[in-house]
Amino acid sequence: MPDEPAGRANEPPWPARYETWRRRWEGAGFRRARLGGERAILDVGCSEGRLAARLARETGRPVLGIDTSDLGFARAFEEASRLGVEHLVGCLRHDAHHLSSLRLPRFAAATFTYSLHCMREPSQALAEVARRLAPGGVLLVVDWVLRPDEAAQGCRRLTTGQIEAMMEDAGLTPIQGVSREGVGLVAGRRPQDLS
Ligand SMILES: C[S@@+](CC[C@H](N)C(=O)[O-])C[C@H]1O[C@@H](n2cnc3c(N)ncnc32)[C@H](O)[C@@H]1O
Repeated sequence: MPDEPAGRANEPPWPARYETWRRRWEGAGFRRARLGGERAILDVGCSEGRLAARLARETGRPVLGIDTSDLGFARAFEEASRLGVEHLVGCLRHDAHHLSSLRLPRFAAATFTYSLHCMREPSQALAEVARRLAPGGVLLVVDWVLRPDEAAQGCRRLTTGQIEAMMEDAGLTPIQGVSREGVGLVAGRRPQDLS
């Protein structure tokens, strides 16, 4: 395979690995066998998976990256291998607005990192992801944001206040919201008592 990275000749081609991951993540068996008490993390709009791989290495938890484009998945697997966490990182081509069609586990945490502004309906995608959080689970949004008095000019950038409001509408309790130099970080937690 001419475009296969060096040193991977004995490994299955990327599409095969991708299918393996899809089966693992979608299967109830994966939930029982691999997650246990250590719930996984969801990286929405994972692209080339650098964050997913790093999160896996730093937390020791499984990390699922989803993206509507699978163009970055080969790089994601490569980075996971480089960091020694290829057994923890999976990628699925899927739209964040429609997670309920997948049989996914509940996640300990989820993140939209520079991806919420790309969503067709950011509030719908955020609510869909919030529903997949375990009680006490945390959603972190990091994105380019608008200043309160700045016009959107046709793109879907939001203010941190708007992102906090979306989190509240989705049943999350905002726990942090800061913005500096056009980049915002907003975190929210799913209450413990929601089933
Ligand atoms: C600007 S990139 C950010 C990538 C990465 N998180 C990072 O920090 O480098 C946004 C990504 O969101 C993905 N995306 C856009 N709409 C999406 C959707 N509805 N569901 C899942 N991913 C989506 C795009 O394909 C793209 O890879």
